Parts: sequence; C-alpha cells; structure tokens
Amino acid sequence: MIPIAKPLIGDEETDAVMKTLKSGSLAQGDGVNRFEDAFAGFVGTKYAIAINSGTAALHVALLSHGLSEGDEVITTPFSFISTANSILFVGAKPVFADVREEDFNIDPECILEKLTKKTKAIIPVHLYGHPADMKFIMEIAEDHNLTVVEDACQAHGAKIDGRVVGSYGSGCFSFYPTKNMTTGEGGMITTDDDLVADRARMIRSHGAKIRYQHEMLGYNVRMTDISAVIGIEQLKKLNDFTKRRQENAKYLSDMLQFKGILTPGVRDGCEHVFHQYTIRVTDDSGISRDDLVSALAEGGVGTGIHYSVPIHKQPFYKDLGYNEEYALSELMADQVISLPIHPSVKTHDLDYISEVIKKALCS
Ligand SMILES: Cc1ncc(COP(=O)(O)O)c(C=O)c1O
Repeated sequence: MIPIAKPLIGDEETDAVMKTLKSGSLAQGDGVNRFEDAFAGFVGTKYAIAINSGTAALHVALLSHGLSEGDEVITTPFSFISTANSILFVGAKPVFADVREEDFNIDPECILEKLTKKTKAIIPVHLYGHPADMKFIMEIAEDHNLTVVEDACQAHGAKIDGRVVGSYGSGCFSFYPTKNMTTGEGGMITTDDDLVADRARMIRSHGAKIRYQHEMLGYNVRMTDISAVIGIEQLKKLNDFTKRRQENAKYLSDMLQFKGILTPGVRDGCEHVFHQYTIRVTDDSGISRDDLVSALAEGGVGTGIHYSVPIHKQPFYKDLGYNEEYALSELMADQVISLPIHPSVKTHDLDYISEVIKKALCS
C-alpha cells in the first residue's frame, strides 16, 4: 500500500520529546518560544504565535483582527471546512467567491464581485500548497481597507517571487500529521502587526497577559512544549521534505501525460510546495473519477479527494441558507484526485502509480 500521507518522524524528534518530558516543562514554555522564533524567521514575519491547531489559529487570528458579528469575510468555497467555520466562530458571515481553474485558488476577480459595505476581510487559501494570487488580493485589500488572513495551513514555505506565504497578511498554519511538517496537532499565526500579535497571545491563554489578570475573553488553545520541540526539528527538515515533494510531483506529471488527465500547473513566479499533488479527471479520459479512485485502491494506491463537497454545499451550510452556485468549485469537486507524492514515495512507487492509472484508462 502506498499511503496518501505519511509523517516522517526521526531520532531528532523522539530525542527532543524525551528531553522535554524529562525536563518537566510539558505545557507552553521555552520550547514554544524557540519554535515561534524559528518559525517567524522562516516565514519572514516579526511574530509567530503558536496555537494548538490550524483551526484555532484561524479563529484566534480573526478575533485578533477584531472581526465580529455583522462583518462579511470573503473566502473560497473550495477548501477544508475550518476555513469558513472560523468566520462563523467569530459571528461574521462567510461570503464565497469562486476559484480559478489554473491553481484551484480563490479568483480575485470574483472577490471584487462580492465586495459590499460590510466586507471586512478576505481569507485566501493557498490550496494544496500553491500560493493564491496574493499580489492582486493585497491590492484589493489596500483599495478597500480590508484585513487579509491567509489560510496557509497547507502551504509551509510556498512562495511568490521569493516571498513566503503567511507574510502578506496574517498567516495561519496547521501542523496536523498529514501536513508538510507536523507537531502532532498544532498551528501557528504569523504576523507583522504588533497589536494582532499581542491580542493573539492573550486570546490563546484566557485573555490574560499576566496570570489571573484577564483583559478580554480568551480560550486555552496553547501549544505544548512537547509539540513545539517536534516542530523545531521538523522545521529544520522542511526544505528537504519540500524538495522531495517537488521532485516527485515533477516526475509524476511527466508520467501522467494521458488524455483527459490534467496535471497540476504552477503559476509564474510561484513556488508550489505540493502538500497535495492533485490531478483532474475530465470527461475526455473516458473513465469516471470515482472508477479511477477504485482502480487505484484495488492497486494499493492511497488517494484523497480534496474536496468532494465544496463548503457551500455541505449540509450545515445549506441549512444556513447558502444556495448560490460556484461553478468552478463544483466542477473541481467532481474531478479532483490527490495522489501520493510525500517524501517517503520512491521513484518506483511513482512508476507504479502511473502504470495503474494507464491500465485503468485503457480498460
Ligand atoms: C486549508 C485548511 N485550513 C484549515 C485547516 C485546519 O487545520 P487543523 O486540522 O490543524 O485544525 C486545514 C487542515 O486540515 C486545512 O487544510
């Protein structure tokens, strides 16, 4: 079986965890501080604030930017549910803008169509590890005085013209085990904004800067030192992991030049970190997406459908009254398959995956 994802934990991580366990500093402490410093340096922001999941990072980032009831936040319907849910958490309204085919990311032209007087923020998602069109999005944000919170949960180290995502607006990252780097569960907010950083630190810890002095409503969404020291070691290895993902993606794209199979593109100036390697199965292929998934499963190849149901079509969102159509998001949801290209996947695995696909297309 070739799994769709596999965390790579080495002796460095286990040694660091053992050392932390023996130190007795198990909750947020020096390990978290060191991870934050390293991550801020990696993204190129003044601050990084560790949180216990990507979802909580989005929630805390929106609260820290002052988003609340009555505000509208524009985002993509073609993402993991927590992108839009974080907007609901703060009492604001998710407003969806459709995606572009070239990179599966929010289309800035569609953002322009959705602007109203209530629009306060945009959450672009760097889906699969491909940067959203941040230059255009930042222009819109500047023209309309909007906050930008980047959902970079899938895009550790992705770049546009050398600039790392998560440094355009405030960035939110996830360290779930399937991600390009992991801490078990975990998240991070990156920002250059002094006030946002200050508020985020308070909100993650019961609204207090000083113990037992609570200045605002907060939560307990702190990261533990046990997680943070895993993150420090993973971050050291991230560039190597990413390179292997990119090499595997290139190799597979060269192999999958079949009619009706669309391999992922990379927009000019962008560095795609291939959290997911996602192809599209179009009608020209002569096979349905689901039959191809079955053929891959029978051949022992793990796949993922990210995402089979766009957010506006989820039952919960339908109940909230979302009934607009987003044609490209819906088309992508019907066509996409993610294939394994993580760092443990070897060239012979990629040859095999391509053979299984070729056989399925010919049968
Ligand atoms: C695009 C996106 N946003 C948000 C999240 C939430 O991250 P977490 O699972 O760490 O809460 C994820 C992770 O699955 C994601 O892929």
